[in-house]
Amino acid sequence: MCGIIGYVGGAPAIPVLLAGLKRLEYRGYDSAGFALQRGNELVALKSVGKVARLAEKTRDTWSSEAQRTPCTGIAHTRWATHGSPTEPNAHPHFAEGGGIALVHNGIIENYRAIRTRLEAKGHVFVSETDTEALARLIGECHRGDLRAAVIAALRQIEGAYGIAVLSRDEPGVIVAARKGSPLVIGVGEGESLVASDPAAIIAHTRRVIYLDDGDVARITADHVDIIDLDEARIDRAVGVLGFAAEAVEKGGYEHFMLKEIHEQPEALRNALRGRLDLPQGTAVLAGMGASPRDLAEIRRIILLGCGTSLHAGQVGEHAFCDLAGVPAGVQLAAEFRYRNPLVDPSDLVIAISQSGETADTLAAVREAREKGAVVLGLVNVVGSAIARETGRGVYLHAGPEISVASTKAFTCQVAVLLQMALRLGRGRRLSRERGIEIAAELARLPELVGAVLAREADIAAIAQRFIGREHAFYLGRGPMHAVALEGALKLKEISYIHAEGYHAAELKHGPIALLTPGTPVVVLANRSSVRDKVWGNAEECRARGSCIIAVVTEGDEAPGADEVLRIPACDPLVATIPAAVALQLLAYYVARLRGCPIDQPRNLAKSVTVE
Ligand code: AGP
Repeated sequence: MCGIIGYVGGAPAIPVLLAGLKRLEYRGYDSAGFALQRGNELVALKSVGKVARLAEKTRDTWSSEAQRTPCTGIAHTRWATHGSPTEPNAHPHFAEGGGIALVHNGIIENYRAIRTRLEAKGHVFVSETDTEALARLIGECHRGDLRAAVIAALRQIEGAYGIAVLSRDEPGVIVAARKGSPLVIGVGEGESLVASDPAAIIAHTRRVIYLDDGDVARITADHVDIIDLDEARIDRAVGVLGFAAEAVEKGGYEHFMLKEIHEQPEALRNALRGRLDLPQGTAVLAGMGASPRDLAEIRRIILLGCGTSLHAGQVGEHAFCDLAGVPAGVQLAAEFRYRNPLVDPSDLVIAISQSGETADTLAAVREAREKGAVVLGLVNVVGSAIARETGRGVYLHAGPEISVASTKAFTCQVAVLLQMALRLGRGRRLSRERGIEIAAELARLPELVGAVLAREADIAAIAQRFIGREHAFYLGRGPMHAVALEGALKLKEISYIHAEGYHAAELKHGPIALLTPGTPVVVLANRSSVRDKVWGNAEECRARGSCIIAVVTEGDEAPGADEVLRIPACDPLVATIPAAVALQLLAYYVARLRGCPIDQPRNLAKSVTVE
């Protein structure tokens, strides 16, 4: 969703800010803008649409020499919540007649009350946003010290924020603060940066300070000073980012999505590294943070997530039941806290999130913790809100995922969940022999996925079957039902074809009415105890003239299928991963044939930080 980048140092800020905004584009946005501190004034520029439009406007506004003037600046990409995507609603927002500029991620919940109060004092608002209320409140509190004004204003705020603020009276200073919306400070040589996402600053430095909730930082070119809202000094360690600038580059691929699909053998290697204990047939996941006895006492597992992460949880549900014999159920994070869930200390709650920022999942984590459950985060982004709030958890180590469509995070989520199930199972009913078999299958994952990637050209050819189609179905049973849901989600979000993921047996209870001759039906019919049942369901579709695209195990026949997509033979739970990769490639090539903006589909954001 929204993105922030700020720069203070000896270089011209404009190119740094525009490049930073470019890096934030993947998060999803509909307008952009920046403010610069020059001499004793603040100047700003905003535009609706892409960062390229803002860059164009910049070139039209300032000579190239003016653009190269060293200065301090803050910039923002906005994903509209309060008010449509217009220039007045784009950030930065201003106070004191343009003397203070603010960019903000998050939502100010009590902005209406603040706005009414300020309007009564004579303020004339120029936007519909909640952010302008905060900007003007900072202005009201300003007595010459910007950080003191920010603190005084934030004490009156309810809601979530990550902010960066400039004052025309304090050259070379950015004030940044966070509560619920991430901010990271980049510590360079004679320059500092602040951003909502390390991807925006990695080109400058890998030395970073993550701000925590309640932190208010005063950032200059060579100093970062942090206090809390009670003005007590805070020491935060400087860490080093665990990835290099190339990780957020396309590296020769046409799209980040394709690059990330191809990164999966390596990502899986990282998600498995040091965790599988092959001789004992188990997994060692230090982040689970519990003794074998604690693990043995878990009576129920609740898996929480949204979108793709929810689908990973659905595979996990099968794995925990089948391998560990622990009752497990996946729940939609958005519903969790509104259902007054029954949770107790013998429950293990696993919150699954690539970004670690998803508002619904975060709210569910808080609810589960309040009810006394042990909550564990399964997160990709290090230091993210969910990783911090859960306190314990297992990182995916998938590396930065830039494309809005989640790919490598999904397969790594499933790989980690299978390892967790193996670990729990070995402490319970799973025999060592069976554990060894599963562990050996998991160790093959990079190779299994590599075999699917080697068939990319065949999959690209199958994509032709979707041309001119507006609807498609994906069918599966057992853990492959989750893969069907995920395959359909991938197709929907990047190709804009309406796709339904369905339990293969449920189709005949209603949706079969939608099948017409040629409707693509992807059938997940790999080798498993229910393969013949799935084939039966495929036959029902074929009898109605549908185009059957069968995902089968290498060596198996696919009688009557129009297209066949083969995955290597492996355990049915493990097979969810190569099957998902095949469907990711299929969705990618369909979207490409349709000329869709694959990495940034319309209306979508990478991190969904609103409920
Ligand atoms: C996946 O392709 C989606 N873009 C989306 O469903 C995503 O998985 C969902 O928003 C949850 O995100 P999270 O994993 O970062 O919590």
